[in-house]
Amino acid sequence: MTKTALITGITGQDGAYLTRLLLGKGYRVVGAVRRNSVPNLTRLEDMGVLKDVELVGFDLLELSNIIHVIEGCRPDEIYNLAAQSFVGASFDLPVYTGDCDALGVVRILEAIRMINPKTRFYQASTSEMFGKVRETPQTEMTPFHPRSPYGAAKLYGHAITVNYRESYGMHASSGILFNHESPLRGQEFVTRKVTLGLARVKHGHAEMVELGNLDAKRDWGFAGDYVEGMWRMLQQEAGDDYVLATGQTHAVRDFVQLAGRVIGFDIAFEGHGASEQGIDRKSGKTVVRVNEKLYRPAEVDLLLGHAAKAERKLGWKHTVSFPDLATGMAEADEQRVRDNAVRF
Ligand code: NAP
Ligand code: GDD
Repeated sequence: MTKTALITGITGQDGAYLTRLLLGKGYRVVGAVRRNSVPNLTRLEDMGVLKDVELVGFDLLELSNIIHVIEGCRPDEIYNLAAQSFVGASFDLPVYTGDCDALGVVRILEAIRMINPKTRFYQASTSEMFGKVRETPQTEMTPFHPRSPYGAAKLYGHAITVNYRESYGMHASSGILFNHESPLRGQEFVTRKVTLGLARVKHGHAEMVELGNLDAKRDWGFAGDYVEGMWRMLQQEAGDDYVLATGQTHAVRDFVQLAGRVIGFDIAFEGHGASEQGIDRKSGKTVVRVNEKLYRPAEVDLLLGHAAKAERKLGWKHTVSFPDLATGMAEADEQRVRDNAVRF
């Protein structure tokens, strides 16, 4: 029988990759989309899947709407990818972020409990919950210490998912996913900001790219690999929590140098802290500058995940290396800027 999946946040990066995966597996995919004055469907178009999904109006903030959506499509599986997902913005929007990323999760869980508690649920949890990390590498057993309103809200979302699993026997899983990127990544996240920014510098549309903390280290993987892990979690006999990560960490500076090389720069960093600059050795031009305004009030200095549980129980493994990820993103943005075709 055809399975139905409801994906919240379908218009985002992961939503596009998950939609392609589930359609390929023969699912009926219902996409939950919040109202915008202009429809925001470019990623689904780009992925070539827009015509194959059913779209429904949805907002994380409105319980009655969530109930109607779930009653309307009767999903076998719900993937809750919707969130205010930008850590930097969460410092300016702490209450809103909590409403979406913390209370939004319990709204969906309550609706599932009322309508059909057998519905399988995936919660998009995050390595941001580890924050000021207590151990390295981080696993499902590492204590949490969030460093942002986003991390704190997601920690509630994680805890309430575990709680509904334990209280009501629901098939609810929490994927503790480390950073994952792609050519469909939002422009405000650092990887995409770098690839798009440097491509614009190369083609004369910008002078340089301004960045914040170049020392921050992240465990960066490819979004296409991570949505496969989400699906595998919901195919297990029972819900559980899983870390998905590559097991390697790199500084923002490393990503800049790698992406820069693909775009045609040979970037050397000089100076320290707010005075640090990235200079193209070929032209002598400064292409990256630090702007202190982009520092966060509290930073997550280092993330490095250990995905042994997912590898053992789900048979999951990342397939795209850090250099290949940076190369794919840089090439995509270089081409978009060259063709004047930046759509998202
Ligand atoms: P994204 O590109 O920012 O997409 C977020 C999605 O949430 C968008 O579709 C957005 O809709 C939707 N949304 C935001 N507020 C909403 C609301 N109030 N009601 C309904 N929909 C709303 O994020 P992503 O990178 O795909 O990440 C997917 C999920 O995984 C997020 O929950 C994120 O926090 C989590 N996560 C991501 C990573 C990562 O590295 N990518 C790692 C760990 C966890 P619009 O298109 O209308 O804005
Ligand atoms: N966005 C951004 N912009 N980040 C910058 C910049 C800049 O100009 N300069 C330096 N950084 C640093 C940030 O301070 C952070 O340490 C790091 O680059 C990564 O920032 P983001 O790409 O914004 O990602 P994030 O790690 O804060 O959050 C992402 O990953 C989480 C999983 O760990 C998001 O996708 C979250 O939704 C996700 O949960």
